[in-house]
Amino acid sequence: MKILNTITDLRTELAKTRKAGKSIGCVPTMGALHEGHMALVKKSASQNDLTVVTIFVNPLQFGKNEDLDKYPRRLDDDAALCEKHGASIIFAPTMDSMYDTNHQTFVNNEALEGLYCGKYRPGHFRGVLTVVAKLFLAVQPDAAYFGRKDYQQAFLIKKMVSDLNFPVKVVLIPTSREKSGLARSSRNEFLSPTERTNAASIYEGLCAAHEEYEDEERSAEILRTIVSGCIDHAGGKVQYVEVVSQKTLLPLQGELTEKATILVAAHFGTTRLIDNLEL
Ligand code: PAF
Repeated sequence: MKILNTITDLRTELAKTRKAGKSIGCVPTMGALHEGHMALVKKSASQNDLTVVTIFVNPLQFGKNEDLDKYPRRLDDDAALCEKHGASIIFAPTMDSMYDTNHQTFVNNEALEGLYCGKYRPGHFRGVLTVVAKLFLAVQPDAAYFGRKDYQQAFLIKKMVSDLNFPVKVVLIPTSREKSGLARSSRNEFLSPTERTNAASIYEGLCAAHEEYEDEERSAEILRTIVSGCIDHAGGKVQYVEVVSQKTLLPLQGELTEKATILVAAHFGTTRLIDNLEL
């Protein structure tokens, strides 16, 4: 497995792969890799001749008061995991090779980037879409792999690919969960043992709402209340619970008449967690 740090080196290396007619899968990450990421790497390795894992903690998607400095960085451990699960290249670009000091061009989704997570993390999705566009142009993969846990992110990336005609197939992988049901995230390591136990209430709430939905409950408000009640009860602080359209990602109110997903963000201690469940 090779570790490459500049777009030039990556392009030189991948030109050989492309010339040999081999397919390229890409798994964009910010490192601190866990089992959830490995599911993406395994999927890519099973569907492509070569898998590139990108590891880049993208400053553009962090707000001023967010955890950019604190975000875990451990390239050696990440590289070992990637190699074990079938990656051929790690692209861990230097800051200079990704952003010129005079970087001025960005990718926005004006309709959806200010909703849900975007409301509480202004500029976050502009940062995500811009870096993913840059990574797609650097790697030029046939397929790219993302987790369903970041539902809004996955939706916006798919929309960008379709709106801007990126020749990339976006493959979404089910959320990987800890035994308790807590969605795996690099941020889970910030939770104290008690917070980690209590944070399982997010998924419990989602499952309880799902059960009510299966029992014909169609009120978006009631379903939202079930999720927030469960989190409140466990001592979490709900940031938002929304029921959204699977087709448009726009919020749904009243009686549900189309396929919907519940999105949730909550704090346990100072750690912000997100999750979702398709109904
Ligand atoms: O999901 C992530 O880890 C990041 O948002 C991504 C897609 C790698 C962009 O930096």
